Amino acid sequence: MQHSLDSYPWWKTGIIYQIYPRSFQDTTHDGTGDLPGIIQRLDYLQKLGVQAAWLSPIFRSPMADFGYDISDYTAIDPLFGSMADFAELLEQTHRRGMKLILDLVPNHSSDQHAWFQESRASRDNPKRDWYLWKDPIYDKDGKRPPNNWQSVFGGSAWEWDEATRQYYYHAFLKEQPDLNWRNPAVQRAMLEVMRFWLEKGVDGFRVDVIWHLGKDEQFRDNPPNPDYQEGEPDEKRYLRVYSEDQPIVHDLIADMRQLVDRYDNRLLIGEIYLPLHRLLTYYGQNNDGVHLPFNFQLILMDWKADDIYAYVNRYEGALSPGDWPNWVLGNHDQPRIVSRTSPAQARLAAVLLLTLRGTPIMYYGDELGMPDTEVPPHRRQDLKHTDSATNRDPQRTPMQWSDEDYAGFSTAEPWLPVADDYAQRNVKQQKEDAESMLSFYRRLIAVRQQEPALQVGDFVPVGLEGELMAYQRVLDDRKVLVLINFGKKPVTHSMSTDSPGSVLFATAGASQSLSDKITLEGEEALVIKLP
Ligand code: GLC
Repeated sequence: MQHSLDSYPWWKTGIIYQIYPRSFQDTTHDGTGDLPGIIQRLDYLQKLGVQAAWLSPIFRSPMADFGYDISDYTAIDPLFGSMADFAELLEQTHRRGMKLILDLVPNHSSDQHAWFQESRASRDNPKRDWYLWKDPIYDKDGKRPPNNWQSVFGGSAWEWDEATRQYYYHAFLKEQPDLNWRNPAVQRAMLEVMRFWLEKGVDGFRVDVIWHLGKDEQFRDNPPNPDYQEGEPDEKRYLRVYSEDQPIVHDLIADMRQLVDRYDNRLLIGEIYLPLHRLLTYYGQNNDGVHLPFNFQLILMDWKADDIYAYVNRYEGALSPGDWPNWVLGNHDQPRIVSRTSPAQARLAAVLLLTLRGTPIMYYGDELGMPDTEVPPHRRQDLKHTDSATNRDPQRTPMQWSDEDYAGFSTAEPWLPVADDYAQRNVKQQKEDAESMLSFYRRLIAVRQQEPALQVGDFVPVGLEGELMAYQRVLDDRKVLVLINFGKKPVTHSMSTDSPGSVLFATAGASQSLSDKITLEGEEALVIKLP
């Protein structure tokens, strides 16, 4: 049966690719990537086969958190280019039939934003209530913050303002004061920001820390974390029961969704680090949540076949019929997949990402198998995360395009060092090598994009045999079997049909001759079209 995918929205059938703009392509010779650089590389993305690019923030920012601290939500930071560059990027993206997604950071602004400058000017400033200001608690030891909430980035989440003698709340850096989302004026202002970009034609938003938007109205203390162990970071001392994931967040998201739905084919992705049962509530009810609440489990879990198999089934089983899944292996906040696992496992992870049901979201450079790059202390940029365990620089280093100086990313010393292996690991070299990770990704993406069952078919678990995970993707009479052997030992899979089908995709070396029993060597995967 011929299947038309026309009735599916683009974000269900297509792949999303995250670009960290500072590190993608520099054209101004300042060592930092920019919008004209992204334009230059659109052909690369198109050839790779992805449908959309999501850009980490490109808005005006003092860059205390590399753009996640915005001082003007409707201006492009000069580091990245101009509004004309943005218009050009959007047009060029659309001309290629691709989509562009921006990063919306509504939970907090920069402390340099005019809103916050006004808010902190005096207690009776009309914008005072746009942020979260509280009196101190005075006790025998003097003054202390209004409650025990801790910043996600460490230390108290409350910053004392001497001039107006109150504390303000910041879930992240003190340079990122949280907006007061219970204030309707704040809600309106942020919807205006969204409208501004939607009117320009952007295809959607990835919404930063969306589960943080609502806080407990009474600002109650968070309860102690019973699992906390001395020596662990302070931010783990308490369970974030009152400081995040409050019921009001769903009303706020519903307003965003309503606005987005007034435009055709736009997408809302929510960044949400929560356990599965909480995560799923962000789909909303009757299409009033985000389209895709980020599913970070493949990043966060132990990389073990039985855990992966169990989680995939749990997630699939928990989704309601209207909820569309999504999968992601990496982002600018997390160690890269190759470094969390191994080069061989990263290939298997790619097979998983691109054959499970749901929208795959890729992180730039993963298609080259880029590992985390060691950044020497004197070159570190992510200064609020100085210790090696939490520093996020290693996963943000420049994209490796060629073996030219600075990997073809820039002609000037880049803001973060280029990985040492760039002369061997780069797009130019990998394009020519049929066995490279890039060729692997390209082939896999092509298979996915040519097989409707892989794009939108149901997920049907087949089983876990040893460390071999087996599942089918089924769309009417189209059936695809995916076999991934995460283990190092060979495993034999018995086919349930007489006629074994044909191989759509195989990791290098995997046998292509099919019979009723198929043996996969260690760390091999096969994608088979069943008759
Ligand atoms: C999100 C971003 C991260 C940022 C934080 C605060 O988690 O992905 O990079 O530091 O929000 O905005």
